[in-house]
Amino acid sequence: MSHRAAADAASPFPPDIAFALLPPGGAEPPLLPEERGLLSARALPERRGEFARGRACAREAMARLGFADAPRQPILRAGARAPRWPEGLVGAISHSHGWAAAAVSWRRLYTGVGLDVERPHSAKPSLLDRIGLPEEADWLDSVPPAGRPRAFALLFSAKESIYKALNPASGVFLGYHDARVAFPQDVADATAKAPESAQRAESALPIASGRFRWHLLRDSGPAFPSGYRGDGGYVLFAERVITGVWVRA
Ligand SMILES: CC(C)(COP(=O)(O)OP(=O)(O)OC[C@H]1O[C@@H](n2cnc3c(N)ncnc32)[C@H](O)[C@@H]1OP(=O)(O)O)[C@@H](O)C(=O)NCCC(=O)NCCS
Repeated sequence: MSHRAAADAASPFPPDIAFALLPPGGAEPPLLPEERGLLSARALPERRGEFARGRACAREAMARLGFADAPRQPILRAGARAPRWPEGLVGAISHSHGWAAAAVSWRRLYTGVGLDVERPHSAKPSLLDRIGLPEEADWLDSVPPAGRPRAFALLFSAKESIYKALNPASGVFLGYHDARVAFPQDVADATAKAPESAQRAESALPIASGRFRWHLLRDSGPAFPSGYRGDGGYVLFAERVITGVWVRA
């Protein structure tokens, strides 16, 4: 499978959102000079590496989208940590223990794009209370035990993707209980599908993919009132989950 076909298979997004994924390994990609100052001089090598790999994915996604001069476009920062995309673009970056990914599209098509990569986690009760609503905890209970770490990661990841899609546009902070995520019934079986040993731990070959729905339980600025509904996509791997959220313009 070509690099491009592999990225397309791993994308949780519709085709008009360009996606790039970098599994662990290989040399650290170069940062552009304008980006080097965004990292603290005391940043640990792990942080430097994930920052550089996220920026490399962003440029690859921009090139796939057909954005002019993508390899020379620095991705600076808007506000505290959100990426500042070149004029006309909207997107998101995520990294997780060696994996990095980015998604980019045209601002005339999308108001917000969110992306998150997570490792499977066990849902300790205190963590589940912090992240999940009662209906989401019930859904997690319905998942076969072997699938719960991936299912919990999906829930957590979906919420971070919602935040990344909305926060840059709204400027409003949302907590984990401010949005409700609903996965279709077949996700429960998919999360348990691949026995851990049958897949290489770091394999970027997807096991399953699909869509989910979400809605807000509080206002996130005038454009996103309480009750606002949106779409998302997910892709499951042996040792990662990826979610994406998009808000059409
Ligand atoms: C900001 C946050 C979502 C980042 O997620 P994370 O799992 O810690 O880290 P990830 O690797 O997935 O993402 C980090 C990237 O997100 C991007 N990012 C940071 N803040 C962002 C924001 N406010 N909006 C959009 N993107 C943001 C950056 O590109 C960052 O990478 P970089 O610093 O290398 O450029 C998370 O730390 C957070 O604050 N969450 C609390 C809010 C929340 O998720 N609420 C749920 C609402 S339902």
